[in-house]
Amino acid sequence: MKRIFLTGYMGAGKTTLGKAFAKAMELQFIDLDWYIESRFHKTIREIFAERGEDGFRQLERNMLHEVGEFDDVVISVGGGTPCFFDNMDYMNAQGQTVFLDVSIDVLFRRLKIGKAKRPLLKDKTDDELLTFIQQALEQRAPYYLQARYRFDGGHLESRKQIATSVEELRQLLETPAV
Ligand code: S3P
Repeated sequence: MKRIFLTGYMGAGKTTLGKAFAKAMELQFIDLDWYIESRFHKTIREIFAERGEDGFRQLERNMLHEVGEFDDVVISVGGGTPCFFDNMDYMNAQGQTVFLDVSIDVLFRRLKIGKAKRPLLKDKTDDELLTFIQQALEQRAPYYLQARYRFDGGHLESRKQIATSVEELRQLLETPAV
């Protein structure tokens, strides 16, 4: 039985890599945000607007415990998931955990394009976005670093790069965790 959790900041490539990795390994792929959206028939933006961040985090925790029981699956969680409740301990107990580590420059470039669908970023100017990413990474690093594996998610910009990353991640996960 395989159960792999991909963690890391927004824009780290959890969904991109998770999807490709699951396909290559013939595992099911679940993106926790998508799972929540389809379960509640609402977008993450709508859930934030209706329940506030606290309400979203509670729901996110409950849904993590639901998908965390599935077998033979790659689960990409939200950027904030590891940082609330005992979610990181839970994931470490349930499967292999990977921190997708990406430089601030790359995150900034990716999130400038992808900020509209993310409630925590959508209203920020570029300057505000950069400062926000820097501060959030500092706060969140202690949680992300509890993942058993650390992987460079900075090379996911083309099909070729994704294929190479998939192979590297496969090899990494065959080595004993730290
Ligand atoms: C969040 C990340 C998002 C989503 C929500 C909050 C965060 O997921 O769960 O907007 O706090 O970092 P992605 O990391 O998949 O964008």
